[in-house]
Amino acid sequence: MTLTEEDEREFNRIIEPIATDPKALEMKKYTQHSHITTYDHCMDVARHCFYFVRRHGIKVDETSLITAAFLHDYYLYDWHTHGDKLHGYHHAKIAMANATRDFHITELESEIIDSHMWPLNLTHVPSTREALLLCMVDKFCSTRETLMKYGLFKDKDPVNN
Ligand SMILES: [Fe+2]
Ligand SMILES: [Fe+2]
Repeated sequence: MTLTEEDEREFNRIIEPIATDPKALEMKKYTQHSHITTYDHCMDVARHCFYFVRRHGIKVDETSLITAAFLHDYYLYDWHTHGDKLHGYHHAKIAMANATRDFHITELESEIIDSHMWPLNLTHVPSTREALLLCMVDKFCSTRETLMKYGLFKDKDPVNN
């Protein structure tokens, strides 16, 4: 997956203020899937969301989609060692609360983060185009990153391919 130069500029314009924030950089400390950090996973998901809407001409609030995609797993712990067996159910709400506290996100962005674990969180149904998109793209990226552990996609940089 490669963004055009113009898309790349627009993507960076939107994401840079959050992605360079020291609080967001904390996500580099934690592993998400295989050797991928939570920070890189979130960046990968945000890029794929943006690529998808630009490629298919889908009308969305791009700033909200990218912001929410980048902060969707902003729960700030390593889920492998955290001890919460129900992490899958709980982390969307934790990420939403942390993002609201640290980045003053909008109501739409908050809803997008909150519903990204649907259908695992059965009652948190994505209710906007942006939310549904993040929900699907996150699953695609997570599966791809998990498969890296078994040698698949090993040559691919998750953020730029
Ligand atoms: Fe998640
Ligand atoms: Fe995720």
